Amino acid sequence: MHIYDLPTPAVVIDITALRKNIASMADVHPGRRLRPHVKAHKSSGIAAEQEAAGHSSFTCATPREILGLIDAHVGNDFLLANEVLDPHRLSALAEAQDEALITVAIDSPETLAAAHRAGIRSVIIDVNVGLPRCGIAPDKAGALADAARANGMDVRGVMGYEGHLMMVTDRDEKKSRVHDAMTLLAQAHQAVGGDIVSAGGTGTYDMFAGTTVNEVQAGSYALMDTQYAELGHPFVQAMWVVGTVVSKNDKWSVIDVGLKSLGMDHGNPTIKDHSVWFCSDEHTTFSPSEGTPQPIIGERVFVTPSHIDPTMAMHEVAYVANEYGEVIAQWPIDLRGW
Ligand SMILES: Cc1ncc(COP(=O)(O)O)c(C=O)c1O
Repeated sequence: MHIYDLPTPAVVIDITALRKNIASMADVHPGRRLRPHVKAHKSSGIAAEQEAAGHSSFTCATPREILGLIDAHVGNDFLLANEVLDPHRLSALAEAQDEALITVAIDSPETLAAAHRAGIRSVIIDVNVGLPRCGIAPDKAGALADAARANGMDVRGVMGYEGHLMMVTDRDEKKSRVHDAMTLLAQAHQAVGGDIVSAGGTGTYDMFAGTTVNEVQAGSYALMDTQYAELGHPFVQAMWVVGTVVSKNDKWSVIDVGLKSLGMDHGNPTIKDHSVWFCSDEHTTFSPSEGTPQPIIGERVFVTPSHIDPTMAMHEVAYVANEYGEVIAQWPIDLRGW
């Protein structure tokens, strides 16, 4: 099948671009220095490509992502970089501990107790480094680690996600703010102990020289989106949602890609050489830039999402294409759900 024959809306991945992104990141952070975050793509097929490039430890946002990777026999060391209290999901993780090393983030006595009750053996202390989200205050991290050890748990180290700094565009300012955040993480690590100091994302992947961070949790770099493209990093767009023009007049065209097939929290998607007017439930309305012919009804159009993570989570399968546009594989987006 050719990508122009796919039923739409369809997620299409350019295998060459994907492998280029994975190789560029592996050059900077080889092996275990990168713990790829699978939340960005939710596909064990892409995780297998990352494993083939040398990474066998993965970051996950949900128990389902970990259990799905274990089912797919990809990776051997999984970090749940997220707080989970649900006893059933934690027990399911605990049951899988003989198959792989599973480490669960905790940031409070409550998350510690939930992990302990479920039988989780390894934890990491999630430290707040400035993003108003999860993470314990740095000066309380040591006491939480002591409490976990008193329960017989292995404390593997610390993580701190500086998500508020991903889109800082001035590189000097970003470097200085990332360093301040990582100083907090290093202080917490001194009190916590353990081998792991985990942080980072696609927006800050090259900002850790001179810090104690020893693994980076980037995920979006593999497929990319229009927001991250603004940073001018060496990663290229590797994924699109392909739509079909289903209606048109002499001013605008309409494709069958809309809010139900695109993550929109980072703004409108883009269509090369066209301007996107707006997205509605099932549709995107757009018009050509000057000098570009208007697409005809039935023509396929490539839409670049503004936010990769929620876009991938809306689809069941990714069609993997070679440089001739031939579909060479179908990868289920099998890590969806919680
Ligand atoms: C805990 C955590 N680590 C790392 C990341 C980085 O991911 P990305 O590379 O997509 O920015 C995220 C993204 O939200 C995250 O929540």
